[in-house]
Amino acid sequence: MAKIVGGITTSHVPAIGRAIAQNLQQDGYWKPFFDGFAPVQQWLDEVRPDVAVVIYNDHGLNFFLDKMPTFAVGAAAQYCNADEGWGIPTLPPFAGDAALSWQLINSLVADEFDITSCQEMLVDHAFSLPMKLLWPQHDSPPVRTVPVCINTVQYPLPSARRCYKLGEAIGRAIGGWPDELKVVIIGTGGLSHQLDGERAGFINKEFDLRFMDSLAANPQWATQYSVEQLVEFTGTQGVELLMWLATRAALPGQVRELHRNYHIPISNTAAGLMLFDNC
Ligand code: DHB
Ligand code: FE
Repeated sequence: MAKIVGGITTSHVPAIGRAIAQNLQQDGYWKPFFDGFAPVQQWLDEVRPDVAVVIYNDHGLNFFLDKMPTFAVGAAAQYCNADEGWGIPTLPPFAGDAALSWQLINSLVADEFDITSCQEMLVDHAFSLPMKLLWPQHDSPPVRTVPVCINTVQYPLPSARRCYKLGEAIGRAIGGWPDELKVVIIGTGGLSHQLDGERAGFINKEFDLRFMDSLAANPQWATQYSVEQLVEFTGTQGVELLMWLATRAALPGQVRELHRNYHIPISNTAAGLMLFDNC
């Protein structure tokens, strides 16, 4: 049986790619951010998952405004990264796990989620940079991957409650897979940030910390809010916290918070990181 061994949630700011390329991890601006990852890297070294299911939002690389699925799952043997115009190095292709991808797709559709299945899929900074942050010593991460995209770019967006239910369904899909696999769920995005408009630069530490606190013991807390309320609380792009909610919802059983980091600002973003395991 496949087993979910834990969940990791992290921000995915493109500037991280430039900092890694320029070796700025110990630079004063970046140190409090990069140092936060050491305990998570150590946990991954000990637990050694076989597969990472990566829940993220595509920002216009694979899907554009003309065709925007609410939920999409990759089902390819590998996923290429490509230039998005941020001026950061393109990373080598990431290995897929097509069999587990199809298990997710079949199980999610049976669970009444309408999934776009992608047998070719480019992955953007929201997928590639967390891989570099979590496995910095590896050119390619030592896991096979299953990308899951949630639309947080083009309205209407799925509600927090719907994303929570998607996460629960992902958890069931993995739990129903007969292969002996250790699976880690990785959710990327957030926390509060707004890149454009009158509130550009908006950050809400109070809400972010409350949200992080809720995830271990009371994970449905944020599902009481509409997408519009979440945007008001966290900024236009802060709504990427939906990826964190889906990740947490996928974890079965009793969940423990093993580690967190929170640092303001990284670029325009309140950068958050959490690690959970389940016993
Ligand atoms: C930034 C944050 C993001 O989540 C993103 O996708 C792009 C840019 C930023 O803060 O610069
Ligand atoms: Fe983003």
